[in-house]
Amino acid sequence: MEFDPQMDPRERAKWAAAQGALDFVADGMRIGLGTGSTAAKFVELLGRKAQAEKWQVVCVPTSEATARQARSLGLVLDSAYPDFGPLDVVVDGADEIDPHGNLTKGGGGALLREKYVALASRKMVVIADEGKHVARLGETFRLPVEIVAFAWSQTIERLRPWMEEIELRRTPTGEIFVTDQGNYIVDCRLAPISDPALLQRELKGVTGVVETGIFPAIASLVVTGRPDGSWQIKNFTSPA
Ligand code: 5RP
Repeated sequence: MEFDPQMDPRERAKWAAAQGALDFVADGMRIGLGTGSTAAKFVELLGRKAQAEKWQVVCVPTSEATARQARSLGLVLDSAYPDFGPLDVVVDGADEIDPHGNLTKGGGGALLREKYVALASRKMVVIADEGKHVARLGETFRLPVEIVAFAWSQTIERLRPWMEEIELRRTPTGEIFVTDQGNYIVDCRLAPISDPALLQRELKGVTGVVETGIFPAIASLVVTGRPDGSWQIKNFTSPA
């Protein structure tokens, strides 16, 4: 059903990427579950596979939305959740992917938990359609930065030297968007990022910044789905 020819080509590509990621999970694994429309497709396929093959997997979701979806599919969450130990793999989406496997994330507002889960995983499998690939991060997507709600306008002022434009994220009804951690997010337009690891370090030094959407050299591999249902894998853990 996911490869319905009537479906939008980008949706078909997302399903293909999610399907490709199934090759990196197995019975008995501890699996991190990403957030967003692509990750949700993987969670659905994993739920079906685990049920059909009676897999015993333990999952750690990166957002409350993903937790609800996983539970509804019968996937078992770590009994310690929201705490959790090391994971075998996390499968998650991305907003942008550069040729070195650096990412920006946080379009769905889950960047902080996504980073915790990615850093706790032996392998990070990124699933995306071709539209997510860019020459340099920051080219197509505003960088999300999670900030403390207290004195949020002061944090915005401290971020200005790096940014061309900063916008506090709001919900479609105009309320301030609040993350699962009770923080705010600012979406920042900036010049394309030449050194993602350096910018990440600099922004983390700003008082009020909790985390950034830059994921420098964290992805192990990227599965890029195509509208015809095929996918391509690029590995970032071994020399090209
Ligand atoms: C959520 C994320 C998502 O992975 C990212 O926004 C991609 O989402 P989608 O698969 O819907 O394009 O980082 O915080």
